[in-house]
Amino acid sequence: MTSLFHFKTTAGHRHNYPQVVCPNHAVIGGNRHVMTSKSTVNPSVLRLNKYGTPAIDSPKERVAWVVDTKSPSTGKFGRFGGKFVAETLISALEELEVVFHQVLQDPEFQEELTTALKDYVGRETPLYYAERLTAHYKAQNMGRGPDIYIKREDLAHLGAHKMNNALAQAIIAKRMGLTAVIAATGAGQHGIATAAACAKFGLSCTIFMGTADMEKQPSSVDLMNLLGAKVRPTAGSFKDATSDSIRDWTEKLGEVYYLAGTAVGPHPCPTMVREFQSVIGRETRRQAAEKWGGTPDAVVACVGSGSNALGIFHEFVRDPTVRLIGVEAAGFGLNTGKHAATLAAGEVGVYHGAMSYLLQDEEGQITCPHSVGVGMEYPGVAPELSFLKETGRMEFYSASDEEAVEAYRRVARLEGILPALEASHAFAYLEKLCPTMPDGAKIIISCSGRGEKDTETVFNYPIS
Ligand SMILES: Cc1ncc(COP(=O)(O)O)c(C=O)c1O
Repeated sequence: MTSLFHFKTTAGHRHNYPQVVCPNHAVIGGNRHVMTSKSTVNPSVLRLNKYGTPAIDSPKERVAWVVDTKSPSTGKFGRFGGKFVAETLISALEELEVVFHQVLQDPEFQEELTTALKDYVGRETPLYYAERLTAHYKAQNMGRGPDIYIKREDLAHLGAHKMNNALAQAIIAKRMGLTAVIAATGAGQHGIATAAACAKFGLSCTIFMGTADMEKQPSSVDLMNLLGAKVRPTAGSFKDATSDSIRDWTEKLGEVYYLAGTAVGPHPCPTMVREFQSVIGRETRRQAAEKWGGTPDAVVACVGSGSNALGIFHEFVRDPTVRLIGVEAAGFGLNTGKHAATLAAGEVGVYHGAMSYLLQDEEGQITCPHSVGVGMEYPGVAPELSFLKETGRMEFYSASDEEAVEAYRRVARLEGILPALEASHAFAYLEKLCPTMPDGAKIIISCSGRGEKDTETVFNYPIS
């Protein structure tokens, strides 16, 4: 089906990109608010650790960290990103970008967000040494192998990383004087997080959700209702819910706040989501330094559309020794057409207002993604991840439905942790990664959410 928000570009069109392995993230992403080597950070305010990032996540230090802001900007990551939207949306996006840059520099916003992340979300989330999972893989290789650590976003309030971003943007909505919020959800986790944040701040909340996803995740729908949100069914899945929510926003500009749940969509949405999720990576770096006095050798995250992956990767993009590994959904297999491996099998095009890799057919029509993890089913991917792929900074692999379900069961049995089926894709890749890593290497897995919502699917999934 042709989408309002989609067109295809010439596949394989080559551009010249700057080298990605660089100490200056602005070079790789063009993200002006990230500190550059020439940025104006005041060292008397900002206490940097030995890696050159803020030593703690205090509001004051965050403000100093983001002083290098400029807007409006193009929101491009190489050739990816941008804002390919109807003229009517441009001024709303520009206003959002201005407010975004203002709040980043506003100590009151930083204070409110930091306090809410701590007292409401329960941050920081632990970096947990998975002793039995580590032993499991070492046992297959004569006692040698990497040490596995899990970043426990499943322990964030309501069970997923989605809360970090929902909370921050709900504060922005409040500051903009908007009392109504709309959002789209796939697996339901972003919908639940947004509903909770709206309840906390007394905002009305409407969540668009695909009917197919509502059937697969009924407990998420109940939870959103209990949290006071109105769930608006959209025929189809997450991509259709996203289209409908953007349409609704376009009709109600100035009345509602569109709360983007992942790092896709028109600028500034991907950058905002990445910024508010990057608390995950900042904590991870600190915790790694505390636990073993260094950085990880590899960071592994599932890639649905990219928010948890960017949340943990972003902090390490400038460390060439840290491998950044994204794991997409191979569904029934990459050659079946029933998967959601956009980086592996997609082509470049424009969808939902931004340029990125997309799952599309030869005529440029969006194809339906499939994954056992509902939150992995999006035909696009974050423009920033598209850029990290193209520059070679990020590695990407895929795990099938079966491998993800097996990983869920393995982690449950060995660690007593139920990872969301989305996150289980990242755990599944350990099967291939561990035998290739040296003894004592440190792997960090992003456990982006908890898997109680998936128990029925896993329970009923046939064991081969
Ligand atoms: C727990 C969890 N992890 C991962 C994802 C995938 O999204 P993203 O790639 O934006 O992190 C979702 C999406 O709903 C999710 O609920």
